[in-house]
Amino acid sequence: MAKFMFVTDLDNTLVGDDQALVQLNQMLSQHREEHGSKIVYATGRSLVLYRELEEEKNLLEPDALVVSVGTEIYLDGNHSVDSSWSAQIASGWNRDTVVTIAAKFYELKPQPDTEQRPFKVSFFLEEQVSQPVLEKLESELQKYGLNIKLIYSSGIDLDIVPRQSDKGQAMQFLRQIWKFAAEETVVCGDSGNDIALFAVGNERGILVGNARPELLKWHSENPADCRYLAQNYCAGGILEGLKYFGFLE
Ligand code: GLC
Ligand code: MG
Repeated sequence: MAKFMFVTDLDNTLVGDDQALVQLNQMLSQHREEHGSKIVYATGRSLVLYRELEEEKNLLEPDALVVSVGTEIYLDGNHSVDSSWSAQIASGWNRDTVVTIAAKFYELKPQPDTEQRPFKVSFFLEEQVSQPVLEKLESELQKYGLNIKLIYSSGIDLDIVPRQSDKGQAMQFLRQIWKFAAEETVVCGDSGNDIALFAVGNERGILVGNARPELLKWHSENPADCRYLAQNYCAGGILEGLKYFGFLE
């Protein structure tokens, strides 16, 4: 079996089926030990909320941690954020202006303080009203020439981040550091902020069986042989996909 780079979202992807997670963890940690595979978590959570989940679910220590939807990368258990990644995404980002403009939209309810990060401004936005609000917000932000991207997930979470940062671009940054080809990389997800992982290129993609409508819609509009929609949910779907692609026996 050859080494591979394993990149996974956490909520409702890696985490959600405790029994399957135990089995997957065991296979992944053995693979890492025997073949030098790398484990990467790519989550929308901040480091604070990640630590809570890590403890609660007894997660494996990853080789790299991508938090706050790709805007922060922590490498090899490092406690400080990778500064070369931060420098790469900082250009054209103006947090204060984003906050000022967004404040004019009463439909946007700020998320908790832990989730407001240097390169991420996050709100709750109800799905029923989301489309016109997202369009109007985007055009307002464009007027100021802000280099931003809106990421809407799970029919409620809105993240505003620098255009050159998302889970997919963070994954590529790590791929280049560790020198894994796209074909040796597998990405797993369930919701809107994971689309960026699947959209990069030839990485093997596993959509767990419980994937959300926004991801399923994107998948049906962008069919590709390198992506697999699992039957099983969460870690069970990941195990199924890893076998499908031949990464695990
Ligand atoms: C996590 C984060 C939240 C973000 C969401 C979607 O739930 O805590 O801030 O909006 O992921 O990316
Ligand atoms: Mg998720």
